[in-house]
Amino acid sequence: MAHEFIQVRTEAGKVGIVQLDRPKQLNALNEPLMDELGAALKAFDADPAIGCMIVTGSEKAFAAGADIGAMAGYSFADTYGRDYITRNWETVRTIRKPVIAAVSGFALGGGCELAMMCDFIIAADNARFGQPEIKLGIIPGAGGTQRLPRAVGKAKAMDMALTGRMMDAAEAERSGLVSRVVAVDKLMDEALGAALVICEFSQLATMAAKESVNRAFESGLSDGVMFERRLFHALFATADQKEGMDAFVNKRKPHFQNR
Ligand code: CAA
Repeated sequence: MAHEFIQVRTEAGKVGIVQLDRPKQLNALNEPLMDELGAALKAFDADPAIGCMIVTGSEKAFAAGADIGAMAGYSFADTYGRDYITRNWETVRTIRKPVIAAVSGFALGGGCELAMMCDFIIAADNARFGQPEIKLGIIPGAGGTQRLPRAVGKAKAMDMALTGRMMDAAEAERSGLVSRVVAVDKLMDEALGAALVICEFSQLATMAAKESVNRAFESGLSDGVMFERRLFHALFATADQKEGMDAFVNKRKPHFQNR
């Protein structure tokens, strides 16, 4: 499939990489870009060879938000009527295999929200995160008011949503928004290294781990633990559990077959 606003490639035949590619607009997220991103991630998700995905941008910008020029003329009918955001952005949330956001430069508004829809964020030391929608007379609309407080707590989420200020990479790591910070020229190596580690494991187990961690944000503790316990029990029905434990016991490297 030809892409206009993203570049798609694989690494080592097992990591699917989507690079946002609207450099002149700092990767501002318009509708066709989000359609392309969703389709590319779904295709990787359906490809048995792919064990993990990376979403990234340019050195200057992961994404500077939803496309303000496009949104400026939208009416209520355009947004509510066409299910703006829900229609295609939410595709990212439906991906079952792990998705890493490799963030360099600006991750603002919808850019920050897109990064937070991924499973974890690895940031370059020049990364800047923010929810500046308030400056435009709106509020975050792709989950920012919900995922940011879950990641960094109410105080910082309120500060960012109400003042529109940016958070640098060091503050983002301190606050729990990102899992690692690396030098900007090492960002893709670090993200790829993490993705390749994930690809070594059983896809059944990595999907279950992702599903179970995400459940923590959807349920109370007892229900969440019960959900985890059932998935944990279910994994004992897989050949990969037998393989992983046999390999440990016999001091050899496991060879998982995703079954
Ligand atoms: N939408 C459309 N175009 C954008 C954009 C956006 N979100 N962000 C940047 N651009 C464009 C600029 O208009 C500019 O285009 P021109 O060269 O044609 O003028 C180009 O990208 C470069 O931007 P700047 O000249 O502004 O670059 P800078 O380095 O001086 O500033 C910046 C960078 C601080 C990121 C600044 O561009 C900025 O503040 N951008 C807007 C950030 C923002 O408000 N994001 C939230 C959008 S709303 C949203 O996302 C809603 C939601 O929750 C889903």
